[in-house]
Amino acid sequence: MASLSPPCTLFTTAAAAPTAVSSNSSSQPRFAKPSYFFTHAKTSPSFRVSCNARNGEQNMKDDSEGKVDRRNMLFGLGGLYGAANLASNQLAMAEPIKPPELDRCGTATNLNTGEKLDINCCPPTTQRIIDYRLPPVRYMRTRPSAHRVTPEYIFKYNMAIDRMKRLPAEDPRNFMQQANIHCAYCNGAYDQPGQGTLDLQVHNSWLFFPFHRWYLYFYERILGKLIGDPTFALPFWNWDNPKGMTMPPMFVDPKSALYDEKRNQSNLPPAVIDLGMTGNTDPLQVVTNNLTIMYTEMIRGNQTAEDFMGNPYREGTEPNPGPGASERGSHTAAHVWVGDPRQPSSENLGNFYSAGRDPLFYCHHANVDRMWTLWQYFLPSNKVPDKKITDPDFLNAAFLFYDENKQLVRVTVKDCLDNLRMGFDYERIDLPWLDYRPPPQTARARVIKTTSDAPLASTVFPVTLDKIIRVQVPKAKKGKADELLVLENIEVDTTKFLKVDVFVNDEDDNINELDKASYAGTYAQVPHKTNKKANKTSIRLKLTDLYDDMDIEDDDTVLVTLVPRHQGGGITIGGIKIIEAPDTKSS
Ligand code: C2O
Repeated sequence: MASLSPPCTLFTTAAAAPTAVSSNSSSQPRFAKPSYFFTHAKTSPSFRVSCNARNGEQNMKDDSEGKVDRRNMLFGLGGLYGAANLASNQLAMAEPIKPPELDRCGTATNLNTGEKLDINCCPPTTQRIIDYRLPPVRYMRTRPSAHRVTPEYIFKYNMAIDRMKRLPAEDPRNFMQQANIHCAYCNGAYDQPGQGTLDLQVHNSWLFFPFHRWYLYFYERILGKLIGDPTFALPFWNWDNPKGMTMPPMFVDPKSALYDEKRNQSNLPPAVIDLGMTGNTDPLQVVTNNLTIMYTEMIRGNQTAEDFMGNPYREGTEPNPGPGASERGSHTAAHVWVGDPRQPSSENLGNFYSAGRDPLFYCHHANVDRMWTLWQYFLPSNKVPDKKITDPDFLNAAFLFYDENKQLVRVTVKDCLDNLRMGFDYERIDLPWLDYRPPPQTARARVIKTTSDAPLASTVFPVTLDKIIRVQVPKAKKGKADELLVLENIEVDTTKFLKVDVFVNDEDDNINELDKASYAGTYAQVPHKTNKKANKTSIRLKLTDLYDDMDIEDDDTVLVTLVPRHQGGGITIGGIKIIEAPDTKSS
């Protein structure tokens, strides 16, 4: 069934570029964009505060502002969460995630191999933290597609990384120091300040996009500074376009500073990246799978911003509440696909503690970040109706980074919601997945459903997924309705690569082909260590288009197939249900 032309045009042109930014003025650029993100944004002067992390006074400045916002949320916008949740202490006392206390950074641990391997990835400490203020945009950094860059660009980029590697080891801008930022924020080196041993974790939640955007922001500015080029921009690995679905050539030249030998040798070019991790060996089918995955995780599978971005993660709550569609999909796949199976923990890209040691990480994440900008500004709003998260616990969450001048700065989520305001943009590239809706499967689906003798979900769960399972799940309502498939209380061993694909009324064969209407979405994770070995998480998959394409609106139950793509157990699903989608008003 591999075919590149149907069901839709392969090379749809991307939406028009935003108005170009003039670079000859020192004022903020003007562009036609929604301004809804900045209702909270006061321009705060640079703010100095001594880092006395132990008494928790480090972040006093925003607190008054934050309290007002929280009251609004609880009493004004409470409908968003419903009365039941308001009763929960956790939310009533919610606060945003605070930045880590660097002087309490512990060893990160990696347990993939079963043996303990302690890693010190703590940054240098310092007494002074400045609240970061976005500088006026004088030059736009336009991030290029990594497959389209010029030899001059490659030369410059290579030189910048080379200089970063030669900085003194204790310089926070040094290559390993930068790599260790990821290790510390992702493998259990930090606890949430004042919350005992609760991990601070920037993956598998709504912090995923903002954290990585800030991380790349400073990384890019450091590289630019090291070569004296304020326009320097990181390249993006355009794995969502068939022309970019191999490792970008500049990273596989062994003489280059961009090279890393700890990569899967079978996946060097011309291997086509397998975003579905299905192991399908037909390159054309893999490309088709990839485009279907992109369409599903960007457009078809999400009802709300949180379905795309990740679930709420607040101070005092467990890490890994649930990754968004993009994080668990294409993002995870690229990590695991590049990681080296010869290494004990799939280093480098295949584990969070080591991922930042491969220069390809930043190129991969530039494309991940590009997906966020596309989703915010370019996808049709009738398809993704609710694009923003206005919860103050999201907007006021904060991180620490060293900037290009070695100054430790505190940054907030609300300041990173607009890439142009941050001074970077992306080269416009076709989005061949934009209309890649799989073909309808109506008649066949009906036969499969009615002949299935699969048990009811309620008699099967909780279940450990070490093989394919099929269950009947009651629909929320007969007839046409927006409905969501919820996998809840997913208990995962975070140290393992895990992936489960979800199909509705699927045929029994061809589970390695995803370009069909029955493919509903994915849960997947990159291995990493947290304090607790098992974490509970949940995901939701929107079924509206799927119901249409499979002609199953009027049924009482659907047949759900869960296909694990990993070896062994490591993931237990507590329950599965279909709920009516909550109303999301587009604004
Ligand atoms: Cu922080 Cu792709 O990982």
